[in-house]
Amino acid sequence: MEESKGLNCFFSTEAILTENLTKVFKTRVGNIIALEDVNISVKQGEFLCIVGPSGCGKTTFLRILGGLEKQTSGRFYMRSRNPQKPLTSMVFQGDSIFPWMTVAENVTYGLRIKGIPPRDRREAAIRFLKLMGLLKFIDAYPYQLSGGMKQRINVARAFVSDPEILLMDEPFGALDEQNRLILQQELLKIWEGSGKTSLFITHSIDEALMLGDRVMVMTAHPGKIKAIVEVDIERPRNILLLRSSPEFASLYREIWHLLQEEVEKAKARELSA
Ligand SMILES: Nc1ncnc2c1ncn2[C@@H]1O[C@H](COP(=O)(O)OP(=O)(O)O)[C@@H](O)[C@H]1O
Ligand SMILES: [Mg+2]
Repeated sequence: MEESKGLNCFFSTEAILTENLTKVFKTRVGNIIALEDVNISVKQGEFLCIVGPSGCGKTTFLRILGGLEKQTSGRFYMRSRNPQKPLTSMVFQGDSIFPWMTVAENVTYGLRIKGIPPRDRREAAIRFLKLMGLLKFIDAYPYQLSGGMKQRINVARAFVSDPEILLMDEPFGALDEQNRLILQQELLKIWEGSGKTSLFITHSIDEALMLGDRVMVMTAHPGKIKAIVEVDIERPRNILLLRSSPEFASLYREIWHLLQEEVEKAKARELSA
């Protein structure tokens, strides 16, 4: 296999492949193994959700893939189909938008950095804000928006930069239930038309099943893959109908059983620390 940021030479249907990806943090109180031997391949255009107890290494995994952290050992490959496009873009929990910029300016910030002319930036802002139901706020400032709206801007901004792979770390974690449902539905709408490979961390089994093609369940510290569950539910998905379907209920139980043990282990570890 070839190595590079445009690691181009693995199986044709895969976007990401990790091989024994391991991360050890060296701290004053000793080594923390945050990730251990994570092996997964993600198909082009797949939506992979990641669940696991708090502190199991989910964020670390995404940060390594996003180039924000370096693994201690192991390797990963990411397919770049178009070198003109950014390979990855990250969406974090909470808002990371600039309060002094309008909605349009926030959403197209990455395009401005790339030197895209104002008219094209405006067009891109219109297109994505329409998709996220925020068009009428295009010239508003963040202080005029609710938390849910700000999080929509974060999502729109990630799509506007048109990366090949989207890395999302609990992007809706801070929202209330109603806003989460609306944003999940909107994310599905925008994602289904884009064909983008997406990795999405969540602490909600519901959310993982609504969005994902597969759910990767991680073990409590150190983070390894415990199981990968296929979500064989057809798309496009209607989130409200989905919740009452028998497939959903049975997948929910399956994932909960896998997680329960890990959450208890993580709790026991916290108490003994
Ligand atoms: N920069 C760091 N330095 C030391 N330890 C870290 C650092 N980042 C994360 N960790 C530790 O690595 C483990 C995994 O963290 P993280 O990936 O944030 O977990 P999760 O996102 O699943 O909650 C935790 O024990 C955390 O304390
Ligand atoms: Mg995290």
